Amino acid sequence: MITHTLTVAYTEASGTSNLPDDDRKLLEEAWHACDSAYAPYSNFHVGASLRLANHIIFNGNNQENAAYPSGICAERVAVFSASALHPGVPIESIAVVAKTEVFNLAVPVTPCGACRQVLAEYETLSGKPIRILLQGNSDKIWIIEGIANLLPLMFHGGELKK
Ligand code: THU
Repeated sequence: MITHTLTVAYTEASGTSNLPDDDRKLLEEAWHACDSAYAPYSNFHVGASLRLANHIIFNGNNQENAAYPSGICAERVAVFSASALHPGVPIESIAVVAKTEVFNLAVPVTPCGACRQVLAEYETLSGKPIRILLQGNSDKIWIIEGIANLLPLMFHGGELKK
């Protein structure tokens, strides 16, 4: 038997002052989207903003539903909108932010498993790592280069064809 060990990496920034303008802009857009989240059941407001390789920005926020599982996360609203309107254009980066009045979100919120899988799909399609920026209710920002750092040993479509 052999045990394989995988390492994941992320970078933590304090505030946006040392980030490139492109990152700052995406975080601003994500906070803007977060303000319009429809989250009356969880009171957990999430905003996402992504930049495509053609420089177009798509925003999304969580959309909840009285039939709970019918709701959808902010990340997937943004990613599916982008793919619907600009199919095949790679996603360069995505910022995801969250806030709630119910408690203090001191650390950034990381995407749920379903959203990681969806990001993996589009990253695999384009072959280019997606840059992921995460922020909660503090100046702490986590930067993750590529979905493999969020979803090691991911399932991808290639396995369906073998
Ligand atoms: N949510 C997101 O929008 N993105 C995530 O990555 C985690 C969770 C939403 C789904 C639901 O509306 C609320 O946050 C609570 O789970």
